[in-house]
Amino acid sequence: MFAERTRHLNGSDIRAILKMTEQPGMISFAGGMPAPELFPIEEIQEVSQHVLKHHGKQALQYTITEGFLPLREQIAQRMQVKFDKACSPQQILITSGSQQGIELSGKLFLDEGDVVLCESPSFLGAFQAFRLYNPRFIEVPTDDQGMVMEELTRILETTDRVKLLYVIPDFQNPTGRSWSLARRKELMEIVSHYEIVVVEDNPYGELIYEGDSLPSLASLDQKDQVVFLGSFSKILCPGFRVGWVCASPQWLEKYVMAKQAADTHTSTFCQQVIHSYLERYDLEQNVSKIKDVYRKRRNIMLDVMDREFPETALFSKPGGGLFIWVELPAFVNTREVLAKSLEKGIAFVPGGSFYPNGGHEHAMRLNFSNMSEDKIIEGIPRLAAVIRTFI
Ligand SMILES: Cc1ncc(COP(=O)(O)O)c(C=O)c1O
Repeated sequence: MFAERTRHLNGSDIRAILKMTEQPGMISFAGGMPAPELFPIEEIQEVSQHVLKHHGKQALQYTITEGFLPLREQIAQRMQVKFDKACSPQQILITSGSQQGIELSGKLFLDEGDVVLCESPSFLGAFQAFRLYNPRFIEVPTDDQGMVMEELTRILETTDRVKLLYVIPDFQNPTGRSWSLARRKELMEIVSHYEIVVVEDNPYGELIYEGDSLPSLASLDQKDQVVFLGSFSKILCPGFRVGWVCASPQWLEKYVMAKQAADTHTSTFCQQVIHSYLERYDLEQNVSKIKDVYRKRRNIMLDVMDREFPETALFSKPGGGLFIWVELPAFVNTREVLAKSLEKGIAFVPGGSFYPNGGHEHAMRLNFSNMSEDKIIEGIPRLAAVIRTFI
């Protein structure tokens, strides 16, 4: 009965693993979840009451698809301050998480057989969203500076129907790596010669633990080719499901129409609560608190990994975000490692999930934001012991 386009629709590996992590006592480095103890619950409670008391009729009513204008104004200002991108509120569409921005991008730009270029590895939620439109994925070799530009150029010169390039230049999921400024500039120079949409997915850019942030691709975009996706999920809370698309006014109009068909608009109440939170509290202070906690958790995890992991395990040292990427010797299959480590009460995501064309079964992604320092100190040696039995 199902439409042809659903033939690649299958549940994500991560969902299956996350189900297992619900078992009591499990130490999970698997999900990409924020630390719930850092959610500003009391502030949100106060703001929610304020919104209901003073704007209840509006907050519980339908609204326009574009989103609540005062929130779009606040986001446009933040785009300038945080991502160097000058834009107007008319270039902002509020979405139900940045995941919806990814899905709408697939819907708007991909015909069956079009080519999507992505980093190798990349975010599996994006593969899931794009797969409904039956594209062909080409993974562009990626090193610790970003996509390898010679490879990108070769692929662009030799491949028909490249339509969309999906990248996460800041503290990428799953590797935690960030692109250098040179690569960002080179990328924008190269793609400016092609009719390609660049989807810049940036949920982690503000979670930076050392150094200065680098300009977003959107800020280097001379030809209105970049669609920037932002999110409140990791800087406030993911449960509200509020993110945004920032794009040229012409493209944004299409996103608005596609979103209207999908879900009419993002929750009015959640938008208003975030707007009032930004007015009445200091989001920067909240982000700074989150960064302090995650920086410490990252440091502890890396320290314990340095001590406990075998020398042949290579891992990233991320300057921000939520993840550490581990590569084991090529003969190790981390799906088998996972089966054993779940028996020992430890979960992670096998690296193969992050390659749209498969392979690369010897890597793993570890999350450091969601478990306490004690759990990290307890869990990493247990995981290391399991890994050693495979090497
Ligand atoms: C790279 C990337 N993009 C998008 C998302 C989706 O985030 P949101 O909660 O804003 O939909 C995630 C979530 O983990 C992510 O890692």
